[in-house]
Amino acid sequence: RSLPSSAPPRLPFSRVTEADLTFFRQLLPGRAITDPDVLESSNVDWLKSVRGSSEVLLRPRTTEEVSKILRYCNERNLAVSPQGGNTGLVGGSVPVFDEIILSTTLMNQVLAFDGVSGILTCQAGCVLESLSQYLEERDFVMPLDLGAKGSCHIGGNVATNAGGLRLLRYGSLRGTVLGLEVVLADGQVLNCLATLRKDNTGYDLKQLFIGSEGTLGVITAVSILCPRKPNAVNVAFLGCASFQNLLETFQCCRGMLGEILSAFEFLDASCMALLEKHLKLTNPITECPFYIVIETAGSNAKHDEEKLHNFLEEVMSKSFVTDGTVATEDVKVKALWSLRERVTEALTHDGFTYKYDISLPVEKIYQLVTDMREHLGDRAKNVVGYGHVGDGNLHLNITSPTRDPALLAAIEPYVYEWTEGVRGSVSAEHGLGLKKRNYIYYSKPPEAVALMGSIKAMLDPRGILNPYKTLPDDLSLR
Ligand code: FAD
Ligand code: MLT
Ligand code: ZN
Repeated sequence: RSLPSSAPPRLPFSRVTEADLTFFRQLLPGRAITDPDVLESSNVDWLKSVRGSSEVLLRPRTTEEVSKILRYCNERNLAVSPQGGNTGLVGGSVPVFDEIILSTTLMNQVLAFDGVSGILTCQAGCVLESLSQYLEERDFVMPLDLGAKGSCHIGGNVATNAGGLRLLRYGSLRGTVLGLEVVLADGQVLNCLATLRKDNTGYDLKQLFIGSEGTLGVITAVSILCPRKPNAVNVAFLGCASFQNLLETFQCCRGMLGEILSAFEFLDASCMALLEKHLKLTNPITECPFYIVIETAGSNAKHDEEKLHNFLEEVMSKSFVTDGTVATEDVKVKALWSLRERVTEALTHDGFTYKYDISLPVEKIYQLVTDMREHLGDRAKNVVGYGHVGDGNLHLNITSPTRDPALLAAIEPYVYEWTEGVRGSVSAEHGLGLKKRNYIYYSKPPEAVALMGSIKAMLDPRGILNPYKTLPDDLSLR
């Protein structure tokens, strides 16, 4: 069960030759990069925990260019690692060895926007925050939001099926993505870029590529259904004395804020300590074991404020919440959100971070943190919990002054066995990438994993697309 997650052996792909470079330079003048200084940042992941040694970075602008690249690489048996904003957290976005990096950075054009339906069609390399700005000017918003918005690409979001901070309200990308254009491993362009809400003509092939982490095809364009921009946004930052109180607040919140609730997030006191220590952020309320960020988004400011007020009165009178503050102005809203969004960044300053992204029944999400703390005792520097309560998604992070194999051996497989024991998922939203690929069996039956292997073999028979990622070694190294 607990196969090692360390680097697998290099598969027998061809190595890039001068003739290959000549082909790429002709196809992409000035955009076939071999400068080691430029390649350095594309070879390393956001967490600086995985480092490849690719010597070529390709920056296509069009689908046709992506198609020509893949057709060539498939014929030449050259492995390719697709890369968006390189903010992925499971080592999926960087090469493991010398795979060619195919970056969507220059594929950043909005192709169409329909202001009646709210359907946006754009190239895969559009940065999430730029799309949000584009839509806000037109009174719409993106249906997803995450801390990495300033760098991540919509194609990367779709490829990881990113969840983020608004999933509770607008649902997963599996519902909001209406169409995809994908280039298959052999260069064939699959144009499923529909802009229809309903389309039951055969199998929904786009779903195969959502969450496939670059292993089945390169996403080149996305059409996505966007909600109207809410007229009124309120953010409440609240403190609770116990996780039980936090759950009671969540239940009350769903009942009293229902249709205007757009996020229910949490962080524990250890996260707050890291925000204060490493990022010099200030806790706006009195110290508590747990903090909640609640966002409401609605169409009537007066109505929403009244609802929020009634809710706050209820949770304070019942002592579910011990202290809190509310913001409506943009600057304060952003400041409160940064206390939740910047936990990931604060952790990077605390030492080496072991990251776990677990789906659990909501009432169990903090039990894993408590049990892990007890299990590790003083072997870890910090054991912290935060995440998306509304989605039953815990982010359990454990820090250590340096990479520590003994600590890792104490964490794994304990964390995966614990998760399996409550029928949770070992990857709620980040995917499996390189780091988690071998733990898939804790959450999926062998028959399902074998079928995934067959799909991979059908779509990418030579295995050139993002090798060593997502599928476990017992399938992908056969
Ligand atoms: P990359 O990191 O470049 O790539 C991710 C994976 O997708 C790789 O396997 C890559 O090969 C593949 N890929 C990229 N582009 C394409 C493409 N066009 N076609 C095919 N495959 C492709 N995730 C969440 O789910 N929720 C969060 O709240 C969240 N918050 C985050 C906060 C921070 C501060 C950070 C650093 C990360 C966060 N993430 C979160 C992780 C998340 O997976 C990414 O931020 C995002 O979805 C990845 O987009 P990217 O463009 O950076 O993709
Ligand atoms: C988050 O919700 O903050 C992200 O998924 C990133 C993380 O897990 O650190
Ligand atoms: Zn998250």
